[in-house]
Amino acid sequence: MHLPNLEEAKDRTSKENKYINLDENYKKVFQGKKYFLRTYGCQMNVHDSEALRAYLETLGFTSTEKIEYANVVVLNTCAIRENARDKVIGFLGKCKYLKKNRDNFKIVLAGCMSEQPDVIEDIRKNHKYIDIIIGTHNLPDLPKLLLESFNKQVIEVYSNSDEVIEGFNYERDSKYTAWVNIMYGCDKFCTYCIVPYTRGRERSRRLESIIKEVEDLKNKGYKEVTLLGQNVNAYGRDINETFSHLLECVAKTGIERIRFVTSHPWNFTDEMIKVIAKYKNIMPYIHLPIQSGSNEILKKMNRRYTREEYLDLFHKMKEKIPGVSITTDIIVGFPGETRKDFEDTLDIVKTCEYDGAYTFIFSPREGTPAAKMKDDTPISEKETRLQELNELVNYYSNKSNQKLLNKTVEVLILGDSEKDPNKVYGYTDTMKLVNVNGPKDIIGKIVNVKITETKSFSLDGDYIDEKIVA
Ligand code: 5AD
Ligand code: SF4
Repeated sequence: MHLPNLEEAKDRTSKENKYINLDENYKKVFQGKKYFLRTYGCQMNVHDSEALRAYLETLGFTSTEKIEYANVVVLNTCAIRENARDKVIGFLGKCKYLKKNRDNFKIVLAGCMSEQPDVIEDIRKNHKYIDIIIGTHNLPDLPKLLLESFNKQVIEVYSNSDEVIEGFNYERDSKYTAWVNIMYGCDKFCTYCIVPYTRGRERSRRLESIIKEVEDLKNKGYKEVTLLGQNVNAYGRDINETFSHLLECVAKTGIERIRFVTSHPWNFTDEMIKVIAKYKNIMPYIHLPIQSGSNEILKKMNRRYTREEYLDLFHKMKEKIPGVSITTDIIVGFPGETRKDFEDTLDIVKTCEYDGAYTFIFSPREGTPAAKMKDDTPISEKETRLQELNELVNYYSNKSNQKLLNKTVEVLILGDSEKDPNKVYGYTDTMKLVNVNGPKDIIGKIVNVKITETKSFSLDGDYIDEKIVA
């Protein structure tokens, strides 16, 4: 069978909706073929995978959970810490083995690892069985690369285009809650972080285009959108817009729940706080990474705020946004972190009593400034600090969950509970996970739930009734 080559594939795509409207002939080529997609890392990757799925399914592929049945394996990778990378390398070993025994078994490496020069070099030398490497900027190129790869072995590397992609046709994982990407990249250059190198400069999507996407989702019955950006509240700086204005416009669409991640304290304005407090459909939940409680370390991290400035912002949020829940990210063992610096971090956790925190041991990323900084704290000491921090963090998340015991809260029910097949699960407005004793037909609805038990990372509750929409 003749497979169209790269040039033919390009010709057949329309400019506006680049690679989505592929000719029906391509579908015939891939009809009956299966893909296996695995996603590593952050929400941005989870959402990118929804685009990858859409491309694959438009080409005629169907999804399989069993890699043994797949014709194409796509790994959407993460580079933020070394262990994320190790997981991918481990899984590639399995793919290599499967490829030995199968014809036309294609392996695609996508995501942040594909944007790291040292990874590309390693793959060229040691992982020649990988067919396609596709960067985070070039997801729309997947169909044409796949078409080409079924003709011959190709390795293509794509990087650093400054494109802003509008109008993706996502194959969304949920029918009730949707990610909406509002900007790409990050300009902050925190000294430990690889993201500005793998995702490029900050580029904002057009406001009208975002609003249209939210309105379409609402009309399709979606109850919740989460606005996504590596640095979500820096939205608009490149196009003379502001995040607070966007947030207000999204609130006015009337969609029932609006969330946004991840906010940088440096870009959080009073106007944003005002808008969040004003609109009931903007959820009282803010993820506000602090990274460290020590001014010395914050400076070395290039975080652009002091602990005092962070605390001012934190207290302002607590005061102005009723019932707000705030979570954070913390890195321990940054180069040069002393016991005293670490105690400053513990102190911030005690002051803020976070609803939750993601905690990490510093992982040097090649090409970032922090990877070259002198680091003489032994790993065993870093592990001890992490454990001590986690105990404190868990104490406070438990404490905040306990406040909900016997209270009635609104929960958007998203599906069957993983813990117990007889239950369903969902999230409170403050982003707490609840396993709910209730009928299956409440999936997709916002309902009142009475909390009957609290744990560190989740709550249990009984369904009462549906939320009355005013
Ligand atoms: N080492 C450890 N943690 C990191 N993070 C980002 N880069 C690194 C690194 N090199 C953490 C930060 C960030 C979260 C997404 O991952 O806390 O907020
Ligand atoms: Fe990385 Fe800092 Fe940008 Fe967050 S703000 S993505 S930690 S560089």
